[in-house]
Amino acid sequence: MEVKTSLLDNMIGVGDMVLLEPLNEDSFIENLRSRFDHNEIYTYIGSVVISMNPYRSLPIYTPQKVEEYRNRNFYELSPHIYALADEAYRSLRDQDKDQCILITGESGAGKTEASKLVMSYVAAVCGKGQEVNKVKEQLLQSNPVLEAFGNAKTMRNDNSSRFGKYMDIEFDFKGDPLGGVISNYLLEKSRVCKQPRGERNFHIFYQLLSGASDDTLLKLKLDRDFSKYNYLSLDSANVNGLDDAASFRTVRNAMQIVGFMEDEVQSVLELVAAVLKLGNIEFKPESRVNGFDESRVKDKNDLKEMCELLGIEQSVLERAFSYRTVEAKMEKMSTTLNVAQAYYARDALAKNLYSRLFSWLVTRINESIKAQAKTRHKVMGVLDIYGFEIFEDNSFEQFIINYCNEKLQQIFIELTLREEQEEYIREDIEWTNIVYFNNAVICDLIENNQNGILAMLDEECLRPGTVTDDTFLDKLNTICAEHQHFESRLSKNSKFLTDHSLPHSCFRIQHYAGKVLYRVEGFVDKNNDLLYRDLSQAMYKATHSLMRQLFPEGNPAKVNLKRPPTAGFQFKASVGVLMKNLQTKNPNYIRCIKPNDKKVAHIFTDSLVCHQVRYLGLMENVRVRRAGYAFRQPYESCLKRYKMLCKTTWPQWRGPARDGVAVLLTDCSVPTEEFAYGRSKIFIRNPRTLFTLEERRRACLEDLATLIQKIYRGWKSRTHFLLLKKSQVVVAAWYRRYAQQNKYQKIKSASLVMQSFIRGWKARNILRQLKYEKRCKEAVTTIAAYWHGTQVRRDYRKFFRANAGKKIYNFTIQRIMQKYFLGLKTTTMSPMDNTWPAKPYGFLEGAHTELRRIFHLWRCKKYRGQFTEEKKAVYEEKLEASEIFKDKKALYPSSVSQPFKGDYLEIQKNPKYQKLNSAVEEKVLLADLVNKINRANGKGSPRLFLLTKSNFVLADQKTGQVKTSVPLPDLASVSVSTQSDGFFALKLKEGSASASKGDFLLSSDHLIEIITKLHRIGTTAADRDQINIDISDEFLVQFKQDKVCVKFIQGGPKNGNSAACKRKNNRLLEVSVPSP
Ligand SMILES: Nc1ncnc2c1ncn2[C@@H]1O[C@H](COP(=O)(O)OP(=O)(O)OP(=O)(O)O)[C@@H](O)[C@H]1O
Ligand SMILES: [Mg+2]
Repeated sequence: MEVKTSLLDNMIGVGDMVLLEPLNEDSFIENLRSRFDHNEIYTYIGSVVISMNPYRSLPIYTPQKVEEYRNRNFYELSPHIYALADEAYRSLRDQDKDQCILITGESGAGKTEASKLVMSYVAAVCGKGQEVNKVKEQLLQSNPVLEAFGNAKTMRNDNSSRFGKYMDIEFDFKGDPLGGVISNYLLEKSRVCKQPRGERNFHIFYQLLSGASDDTLLKLKLDRDFSKYNYLSLDSANVNGLDDAASFRTVRNAMQIVGFMEDEVQSVLELVAAVLKLGNIEFKPESRVNGFDESRVKDKNDLKEMCELLGIEQSVLERAFSYRTVEAKMEKMSTTLNVAQAYYARDALAKNLYSRLFSWLVTRINESIKAQAKTRHKVMGVLDIYGFEIFEDNSFEQFIINYCNEKLQQIFIELTLREEQEEYIREDIEWTNIVYFNNAVICDLIENNQNGILAMLDEECLRPGTVTDDTFLDKLNTICAEHQHFESRLSKNSKFLTDHSLPHSCFRIQHYAGKVLYRVEGFVDKNNDLLYRDLSQAMYKATHSLMRQLFPEGNPAKVNLKRPPTAGFQFKASVGVLMKNLQTKNPNYIRCIKPNDKKVAHIFTDSLVCHQVRYLGLMENVRVRRAGYAFRQPYESCLKRYKMLCKTTWPQWRGPARDGVAVLLTDCSVPTEEFAYGRSKIFIRNPRTLFTLEERRRACLEDLATLIQKIYRGWKSRTHFLLLKKSQVVVAAWYRRYAQQNKYQKIKSASLVMQSFIRGWKARNILRQLKYEKRCKEAVTTIAAYWHGTQVRRDYRKFFRANAGKKIYNFTIQRIMQKYFLGLKTTTMSPMDNTWPAKPYGFLEGAHTELRRIFHLWRCKKYRGQFTEEKKAVYEEKLEASEIFKDKKALYPSSVSQPFKGDYLEIQKNPKYQKLNSAVEEKVLLADLVNKINRANGKGSPRLFLLTKSNFVLADQKTGQVKTSVPLPDLASVSVSTQSDGFFALKLKEGSASASKGDFLLSSDHLIEIITKLHRIGTTAADRDQINIDISDEFLVQFKQDKVCVKFIQGGPKNGNSAACKRKNNRLLEVSVPSP
């Protein structure tokens, strides 16, 4: 991208008209044209920006452009509106100067666009943040709302602002926007009712009908068709490039952003609809008896709908269109209105309604965008107001507009030209006085309170009697006749009597920008701006709250008989306030020029441009700039800025700044006519000189920058080197220390090793020596001890007992044994106890076992010693039984635990056995019940069995009758089985006295006891042989004559628990014994 550093770079024509050579109107226009042809639409006159309307979008408003112009000096880049906006914003922010941007030009010259460009630039460069962005957005979005209601398509501009607008944007000390205030001036309300050919009503009507939803239209009782409404002109309803429906959406959105509530938007749209409806109300004449015509509403449908929309009683409004009440001196008079008056009243109502709605919108927007913070703020005002208007037919509106422009010119003159001249005088600069036209005289002609045109118009409006536009003109002709800027055919000034360009019903004013002919028709009416009170009261009666708000004078409680101020008076007052406001601010001018009448790009109409250049006073503007000095600056700042251009002033000038600047300029060979010395400032005539100085300064700055760079680099390298050097010393020191430490550590550890070896070696030597000495000493001591021992033993042997050793031995043995025996004490006295302590010493092995045996015998003896004789006999029997049967008969184990009772029958006590008792002489050793087995069937028959020392007896169980008594010597043997049965056979000796009875086969429950006792008697009786006890499972029994074999077999479980004997045959009895 090409970087511009000066206004002079790649200049097309000249960027600043001050530099134009030669300067005349033609060259001026030519310069504008050549720049316009090259798309350079902006040109400067000093600090004033001339803006040509390109009628097409140019790529010069991009964010990159904003950045390009941001914080750059005004003359630094090619002319642009951004340069002016930046300059204004920076001096507002940095120098705390309130600014105003005055944008003037004729309709369609691009004022509104320029104002938007300024606002968008400021919005882009000022601070950011959520709150700030909201404020910015609200300020920017107020434009579409106001444009919809205040702009219209005209012949000259498709988006012509039909009102003047001044907007104060307020900033805080940082330059962030806080809010704003909008003032509106003179809305062209006549447009509501009537539009010139080829023009449209205000945009909002078309936008509403095209863009609103069917639903909304239904609510507003509107039809989409424009042709249904009298107030809408049809021939130019659709404008090329304007999308009304889309614009409506934009407006709705903008209203929302600005902060309109939904019901407020609805109310506004209802009023817009009401205006359209109002236009459709038509009247017809109705003859009255008194011969006068009275108006009546033709078709009441629109009236009805309008009344419904606004909540007005239909009859009230209808009456207000037919009658007019005049109040004077507390009297009320009602007069009828004819059709023309009714139409007048209707249009007046529509115009008033719309213009008041517009003013309400401005107030409402102001409410939203007003700055919240109460802190002091800086202000940037942007004035977008109608430019000077010269039409063929000029009326009251043009008069007012041109008056406003005269006032703005005044400000311009006051602030620019006069200020400039005054500064020269102040600074004592030689000044060739430039003659410029001061339009104060024209302003005076219009606004003078005594004989000014506006004052006279007001006077005429308030005067009683018949007042017409002609009477007003007569008055002007009388009073202003002598004024040099007033021209009228009928004035007393004879020089216009023959001027045919001046019709009788007109007057002409020589404005600063040219002569304008005004037709007086309508002046009085428009100035009066009358709205019949009946109408305002009818409006006040509406239930629609916004409507009531707009017509406060309709409140019957506040009837004010005073006439409202006239339109001219109001405008004058508001212009006065505006001027005062502007005077306190630093002005910045944008002069807009329209290149052609066709609203198309690329066409430059010389005559049109020339006309505008003239009435904008641009040539005069350039002349003043050129006659004076283009640039001025206090000496101090000039010297500070350019001192590097001269060796004497660089780097420091010691002395007065003015002398310094003189030396500087001489040294730079600036021609003396190019500058002048003021009291405090240097004045440079030509911007070119300034640019040259700037250029040289820039070159010098580059050299200086190189020098600074050089010195800086040198300093940086040296510092770096010194740092490296210092670091190297530090590193070296640290490294040396480290190396030395390492070396030292090695030497130290080596010497330690050596030391330890040497010490070890030395110590070992010493140790060896000491050990040797110790051993020698020990040897000597041992030898000495032995020797002494030998000596002493030899000497004392005679004193020792020869068996001392034995004694000691015995004693030791005793001690050991004592301990051993005491250890045995724990053993119990029970013969059943098998425990015995382990042997403590090996040498006691034999003794220990023996001792256990002896101890056991002893404790058995002790145990036995406790027994009585009877118990002893019992145990002896038990012992004998054990010897006989243990491990031989299966019955034995069960008998061990049964005590041998002997007498089971208690025959002594039982009287039943008395006989038996007496039969047995001896002591009965055993009496029991036994079964005697019958040889014939093996069955047993019970018998009493008694045993005495000498015989055994079998007796009858019931009677006790002794059946058999056998002396024991006759008993040869006893046979029993090996099994658990109780059968036993008592076998008699062959040949004995009892042998004839045969053997006895018996069975008893106490078999073991019976056999044991039998055996015992045999053992203890010395006269008898031992009774043999035969234990086998098969034995022979001698039953009288025959021998029968008794065989024991193991029976099955069938046999039950007891053994059963069966006779098998003559020779065999089988006893089946249950298996164990
Ligand atoms: N800088 C510009 N770039 C492109 N087009 C522009 C520029 N300035 C103006 N225009 C075009 O010219 C038209 C008229 O401009 P604008 O509405 O600003 O005129 P105005 O001076 O405000 O007129 P009025 O006094 O009638 O309001 C714009 O709608 C736009 O199309
Ligand atoms: Mg405009």
